[in-house]
Amino acid sequence: MNTLLRVSDLRVRYGHSVALSGVDAQVGDGELVAVAGANGAGKSTLVNAVAGWSRGRATVSGSIELGGREVVSLPAHRRCKLGVVLVPEGKSVFEQLTVDENFRMVRPPRHATGKRYEIDDVYEVFPQLRERAHARCATLSGGERQMVAIGRALRAAPRLLILDEPSVGLAPRLVVEVLQHIRALVEGGLSVLLVEQNVKAALEVADRMYLLEQGRVVGSGSAAEMRDDDRIVSAYLGRLAH
Ligand SMILES: Nc1ncnc2c1ncn2[C@@H]1O[C@H](COP(=O)(O)OP(=O)(O)OP(=O)(O)O)[C@@H](O)[C@H]1O
Ligand SMILES: [Mg+2]
Repeated sequence: MNTLLRVSDLRVRYGHSVALSGVDAQVGDGELVAVAGANGAGKSTLVNAVAGWSRGRATVSGSIELGGREVVSLPAHRRCKLGVVLVPEGKSVFEQLTVDENFRMVRPPRHATGKRYEIDDVYEVFPQLRERAHARCATLSGGERQMVAIGRALRAAPRLLILDEPSVGLAPRLVVEVLQHIRALVEGGLSVLLVEQNVKAALEVADRMYLLEQGRVVGSGSAAEMRDDDRIVSAYLGRLAH
């Protein structure tokens, strides 16, 4: 498998406070890689750094390669054009606009290298949104709103789709539904880096997982390996999980 994303020795500081201290991680072509860890472990910092985003004044060093090209010094919009598309934590839809309008606002870059999704293709991925095409997003369920956010990201023609806690606030049934949609996108060839607090559900769909603690990778492996990892079992799955 080709490596699409290669993060090496990534360090991020906010002022004097160190959020990531030397993270190595990869995502292969067509792979779904999950990132787990406690609150404050550095998950959002990691994915924001990959996308070139920062909520504050972050100092970033290390290497972030996309398809062999160093992107660490490129601004977010240039990385987006190269196919690094992030759906950040929290709201990322325009609530006062309809589903359709939300999709129309995003156009793929002219020389997009990722897969293009026309609006109709997005409705193929999320059939239930077609029925709500003319509904304002404010009237949608949390799960539907998250699907709109992902649909908007697909419109930007991602090569690497990055999702930061897409299931936060959703009922357990909807968590599974959203994650299964994400898995289906990966089966279609997309590469995904997924931050997910519901580790059990993430391990159902992910190929591999990284476990972050205090800004470091403390464990990584295939979903099957991570299901047996003592730290994952004790912190997230419980002793009776098997
Ligand atoms: N903009 C910022 N300015 C200063 N410190 C920040 C900023 N963003 C994050 N941090 C700090 O960096 C560390 C990592 O935060 P981050 O948001 O990456 O964690 P996380 O794993 O995504 O947590 P959560 O599960 O709560 O989303 C934390 O100690 C946090 O307080
Ligand atoms: Mg976070």
